[in-house]
Amino acid sequence: MRLDRFLTEMEIGSRSQVKAYIKKGLIEVNGSICKTTDYRLDENSDKVTYAGNELYYQKFQYFILNKPQGVVTATEDKKDETVMDLLKDVRKKGLAPVGRLDKDTEGLLLITNDGALAHKLLSPKKHVDKVYRVKLAQSIGIKEIKELEAGVDIGDDDLTLPAKVQMINDSEILLTIHEGRFHQVKRMLKAVGNEVIHLRRESFGSLKLEDGLKSGAYRELTVEEIEKLKALG
Ligand code: URA
Repeated sequence: MRLDRFLTEMEIGSRSQVKAYIKKGLIEVNGSICKTTDYRLDENSDKVTYAGNELYYQKFQYFILNKPQGVVTATEDKKDETVMDLLKDVRKKGLAPVGRLDKDTEGLLLITNDGALAHKLLSPKKHVDKVYRVKLAQSIGIKEIKELEAGVDIGDDDLTLPAKVQMINDSEILLTIHEGRFHQVKRMLKAVGNEVIHLRRESFGSLKLEDGLKSGAYRELTVEEIEKLKALG
């Protein structure tokens, strides 16, 4: 990769800014100042420093975010705060949320620039499990649980795939679904005569929301977590 491209990908500055930094001698490659803007480097093995700080190249980035309510799942929005605004000191180029949680839904959201993995995880054929903790306006009975577990008509061409329901109490459930249709959980509960009053995604495939990750907080995935997701996809 060209040195100036490497530096822009690392979000050190715009293409013209990084060229100026290179010419000023602020960039070192393997311990020597490099003033050649189109110098070709091996981004995986060459050591590049900017103003003395080493830049570590990582092509793909993976974050788990505990999305708060009131924030929209988008890369930009004219009106509302977006999930991307919550990521601070992060190289944002190419990063995007994988799938979407409604503005009033909270919980686990994966954010990555690994488009191929995102595409696979969202593919309807992959049936990646998503677990939601759902608070309901009314208590739910065995009949409705059986309907959700069998698949319900939410107005699309097909019934929803069979879901799994675990009761927490008579108006709170854990619902596991294998698809990601628009407003799916809310529409499923509406189809059985109930209403969602609070929704939180607890897990997405092999990823689980841990107690320590506060609302609005995020962290990078571990190598092991990334490998497990790739095995799903
Ligand atoms: N289902 C919904 O209805 N809303 C969400 O945000 C996620 C799943």
